[in-house]
Amino acid sequence: MNPEVTTETAPNDPTPALKYDRMLVVLHWVLAFGLIAQLGLGVWMEDIPKDPPGIRAQWFNLHKSIGICLGLLILWRLGWRVTHSVPAAPLGVSPFLQKLGTWNHRLLYLCMVVLPVSGFLGSSFSPYPVKFFGMALPKLWDASPEGKEFFGELHELSADVLMTLIALHVIAALWHQFVKRDGLLSRMGWRR
Ligand code: HEM
Ligand code: HEM
Repeated sequence: MNPEVTTETAPNDPTPALKYDRMLVVLHWVLAFGLIAQLGLGVWMEDIPKDPPGIRAQWFNLHKSIGICLGLLILWRLGWRVTHSVPAAPLGVSPFLQKLGTWNHRLLYLCMVVLPVSGFLGSSFSPYPVKFFGMALPKLWDASPEGKEFFGELHELSADVLMTLIALHVIAALWHQFVKRDGLLSRMGWRR
């Protein structure tokens, strides 16, 4: 275990945390894999030609269905996160880098919320119903080109911000692992 690590306990949780809770670990890695795949799918599907008709719509529908599942997992993760203790920021780095890490995590969470919500709202303003693995969801309101445009732009912007934040996050994790060698990565690992 890394000796340079302090603990931070949630107000109503008597157990100080040295590592992330196992549920948070599983959700972190499932979502890391899922979000990176979903970002790749989103960028790739934009280039699918509209002709012959159908193929592009099939991939878009798959993207929407996966996005809704990821949105539910993110909701679950946020609920778990606010009700469980997590390790405090590592002590062996400067206060500036600690703050940078904290803000990286906060903004990652913000993008994880904005992406599925903006994707869903943008799609629900289109003339077609959102299909969840083939099942048409109820239409919430009338189609609106302005609403579709606004949430579409927000969706694209938050995807770009998320990709940048993930790149910084991974660089930081690799720096801890191979330059600082402080075992930070193991805090997000399965072994207790
Ligand atoms: C889509 C990709 C990813 C997202 C959205 C993501 C998101 C996050 C978030 C939000 C946290 C803060 C956890 C919390 O306080 O609740 C975190 C922690 C962490 N992530 Fe990721 N992550 C991703 C990929 C990765 C990858 C690829 C690595 C390793 C190379 C990694 C390593 C870590 C580590 C080590 C921590 C714990 C940091 C600490 O102990 O302070 N993450 N991640
Ligand atoms: C966390 C989940 C999600 C991620 C990471 C994600 C990511 C992306 C990305 C990277 C793009 C391409 C953006 C561009 O380059 O223009 C995209 C497009 C799109 N996404 Fe998502 N998405 C998510 C969830 C959703 C959901 C839940 C829906 C709808 C129910 C959705 C609907 C769409 C649509 C319709 C487009 C095409 C937008 C357009 O061409 O105007 N996405 N998404």
